[in-house]
Amino acid sequence: MIDLLLRNANLPDGRRGMDIAIHDGRITALGPQLALTAAQEIDAAGHLVAPPLVDAHFHLDAVLSYGLPRVNQSGTLLEGIGLWGELKTTLTQDAVIQRALQYCDWAVARGLLAIRSHVDICDDRLLAVEALLEVKRQVAPYLDLQLVAFPQDGLLRSPGAFANLKRAIALGVEVVGGIPHFERTMEQGAEAVRLLCEFAAEQGLRVDMHCDESDDPLSRHIETLAFHTQRLGLQGRVAGSHLTSMHSMDNYYVSKLLPLMREAGVAAIANPLINITLQGRHDSYPKRRGMTRVPELLAAGVEVAFGQDCVLDPWYSLGSGDMLEVAHMGLHVAQMTSQAAMRLCFEAVTTAPARILGLEAYGLEPGCQADLVIFDAGDCVEAIRLRAARLLVLRRGQIISRTAPPHASLSLPGRPATVDFHIRPR
Ligand code: FE2
Repeated sequence: MIDLLLRNANLPDGRRGMDIAIHDGRITALGPQLALTAAQEIDAAGHLVAPPLVDAHFHLDAVLSYGLPRVNQSGTLLEGIGLWGELKTTLTQDAVIQRALQYCDWAVARGLLAIRSHVDICDDRLLAVEALLEVKRQVAPYLDLQLVAFPQDGLLRSPGAFANLKRAIALGVEVVGGIPHFERTMEQGAEAVRLLCEFAAEQGLRVDMHCDESDDPLSRHIETLAFHTQRLGLQGRVAGSHLTSMHSMDNYYVSKLLPLMREAGVAAIANPLINITLQGRHDSYPKRRGMTRVPELLAAGVEVAFGQDCVLDPWYSLGSGDMLEVAHMGLHVAQMTSQAAMRLCFEAVTTAPARILGLEAYGLEPGCQADLVIFDAGDCVEAIRLRAARLLVLRRGQIISRTAPPHASLSLPGRPATVDFHIRPR
């Protein structure tokens, strides 16, 4: 007898009425009307069942610090970096840990069970690094946290940053970060990319750089990142986060750049909520959207994920850990409104970031971890439309979160007593 049988699930690829067998924390079989007996059966009742949401880009050291020591008045990236610099000197390890753990509780309730978080290493104490390594240990039973050593104030611009980055990696941080557009010159940015890629290649590590988070169309560090990725054989292990300058680049140059990114196997991580908020702040009208060219990257065969980036911190005053909200915004900003494109937006918060993070045994095949989310929706497009409740969240086959579906009661003569926002009953 197996541990658990989920009956009548709809899958993200469109298959309907599927059963999922789970034993010892793994998926053991998947198919229609499985002839199996289980210690527990759950009727998914035609709801979407998907592997968990994954956030490819976040900052867990700054999360829930909104208003400390003050709010960002201009709404720009640069004021946010300045504000974080003020806050950084007053951080305590306990406060960082408590805020991060609170956010991870929210994440679990949202079916978000894997997060790649950058952690600022431009602090000789490495206080945030030690705090997030402790958080990683504490949440490991229910959430996969992958940390990126992030030189927020510039690898070359900030004294001691490279040495700190190496110390952070030695302590257990597993991905090499960077911020070439924040170095003093274009040349220094290119040099930082080279040094970081060579270090990652030596150490056998993945790379994820904040890259060209700028409206300057001449910010072309992604070109250098693709070059060194290809040169050093790092294909499939490198991501460029933000890439917002691509929004403003000349079309001819982009037509050269996209195949270079594809050739190098560099992934792109857009952060729709933050890009639409921070970019275009120096424009009058028309105001640029600023998000990177998601449909064109996908058409060129580049892996693309969406990240949340920030929740209630010096850069963003909203957010609640909901990757469906991120997908919803990405869909709108990129005008990805066809059925196929909307499904790609769901993949950009599930399977695509799972591949970028290198998550093992992620997915819905037999042998995969039984980490699953049942959404209050019939398919992944409806899940995005409704930012559907995560009715059940399972980790290794165990239920770790439940949310009741929203139902409004109506008092209208001759009309239904309730509405649930689904087009048709399942
Ligand atoms: Fe970021």
